[in-house]
Amino acid sequence: MASEADRIVQVLSPASRVVVLTGAGMSQESGVPTFRDAQQGLWSQYDPMELATAHAFRHTPNRVFGWYLWRYRLVHAVRPHRGHLALASMAAAFKEFTVVTQNVDGLHRRAGSDDVIELHGSLDRFRCFDGGHPFDASALDGVEIPESGEVAPPSCDVCGSSIRPGVVWFGETLPPGAFELASQQVSRCEVLLVVGTSSVVYPAAALPEMAAGRGVPVVEINPQSTPLTALATEAWAAPAGDALARIARGVGVALPDEG
Ligand code: OAD
Repeated sequence: MASEADRIVQVLSPASRVVVLTGAGMSQESGVPTFRDAQQGLWSQYDPMELATAHAFRHTPNRVFGWYLWRYRLVHAVRPHRGHLALASMAAAFKEFTVVTQNVDGLHRRAGSDDVIELHGSLDRFRCFDGGHPFDASALDGVEIPESGEVAPPSCDVCGSSIRPGVVWFGETLPPGAFELASQQVSRCEVLLVVGTSSVVYPAAALPEMAAGRGVPVVEINPQSTPLTALATEAWAAPAGDALARIARGVGVALPDEG
């Protein structure tokens, strides 16, 4: 009987246009916590309504800003793992290879993927709350995070409003054009690979449904089952690093050393 890796390679090999949708599980092996995993997930330790809404930022700006500064530092202290590197290398094997990510950690780009759509923004792009003026994150380099975790947000040089992280909070719309572009790529793709997402947050979770609705093979890689699993053509219960490295080798891609 063919292994999951063999079956997935068979699905991918004839395709020329591939989209990969990733979520927090993609970065778990780099040391970035997911949101919904029972023990380590961020939302099992913190209340998202107190940290990931505009309302929370207005009421407790220091708490919210300090938490995002901590996450910004965390993602810069880790490195892409072999799964990120495998995806970056696999792009060469297909005519089009787009990574659509819900992650805000920048690890796909750091691994070398260049066609990346960041649906939920980026921890690297701070901007002001009222005017949306960009803020140079290097100004945060010397800022210490005290034991309390609270850091006062700097003020915008242009309009004086508070600086916020450039990520999408609950109740906010996605960055202009991001979902439209992602849907367009999904409407053209011949295979959709879904890696490390719980598939419960919309509109991202609608992308695999769109592909499956068109009869396009949807391949899920996730150690746990999700609402997508029953819909997927292939579901491989494996961590992203190992699975993607094996798939990349299967489609004939040589992997660089991790680094
Ligand atoms: P979740 O934390 O909801 O789901 C992470 C998924 O990754 C789970 O299904 C895990 O089983 C899986 N997983 C864990 N380790 C893995 C590994 N090594 N390899 C592969 N999969 C693994 O994260 P997301 O689905 O990304 O939104 O969450 C979606 C959105 O909800 C996030 O972008 C964030 C959050 O609230 C915003 O902040 C707007």
